[in-house]
Amino acid sequence: MRAKLEIIVSPHAGYCFGVKRAMRLVAEGLERYGGIIYTLGDLIHNPQEIERLKARGVHPVSSLDEVPEGGTLVIRAHGVHPDRVREAERRGIRILDATCPFVQRSQKFVRGLSREPYPVIIIGDGEHPEVQGIAGHAGERLLIVRDEKEAKRMAPLDRAAVVIQTTYPRPEAERIIDALRSKVRDLHVEDTICQATESRREAALALARTVDFMLVVGGRNSSNTKRLYQVCASVGVPARFIESADEIDPAWFGGRRRIGITTGTSTPDWLIASVRERLAEISNAPA
Ligand code: F3S
Repeated sequence: MRAKLEIIVSPHAGYCFGVKRAMRLVAEGLERYGGIIYTLGDLIHNPQEIERLKARGVHPVSSLDEVPEGGTLVIRAHGVHPDRVREAERRGIRILDATCPFVQRSQKFVRGLSREPYPVIIIGDGEHPEVQGIAGHAGERLLIVRDEKEAKRMAPLDRAAVVIQTTYPRPEAERIIDALRSKVRDLHVEDTICQATESRREAALALARTVDFMLVVGGRNSSNTKRLYQVCASVGVPARFIESADEIDPAWFGGRRRIGITTGTSTPDWLIASVRERLAEISNAPA
């Protein structure tokens, strides 16, 4: 028999608050309105759960043209450009808004400044739906800064306000803010980084330092899971990024005892349970 594996799941694993809320709204929508519920893009970044949702009648669409009049559309936790909400309303589509309250806070802040004569700067990835949605609430004087280099290339400004993509890693955001301070005389920073993401990253880091192997579970299309994997790997512990228990190879654990598990914010509990079960099987199997 191999040495028993000790399995430790990070205290910050599974759905975050915003994803839990979105899933609850979808479940309520299915119960109340029945039929099909549409989501603009995948509701969450987890292919396995998306398949389960499809079986329950939750269908991702890429355009409002795919939603019939009178249909029900869920705005996912990232939020969306307000023009799309207006267009959906104009088409007689029922909207269930699952925009995470933390994202709503950024949208509200930016909206409040939309008539100011100075620019709003969003620190984040301009391709990310959350950033595109927040940008839709800003006035014309909007700048999106993805990294320190872009901040350093900016023309000097007298005044500006900053919001940060909720899932942006804090150390990176702080470097960008430092670079912005050298460009903008009067800079107001609204700290909109989500505490749930930070706690998850810190807990993953702390766990990775105490185990022999880390499993990071989440959709390959999930950028927060990719970042978590990088964080875990950065401490030098062997780590693997997996989507499901089927990918686990027992050979990874030869001579290793303590196995840590962390997950992205869109990883359901049932997937974590199946990873635990697979590890227990490996642990109990004859060597
Ligand atoms: Fe909201 Fe933070 Fe999750 S912004 S969707 S609680 S990662």
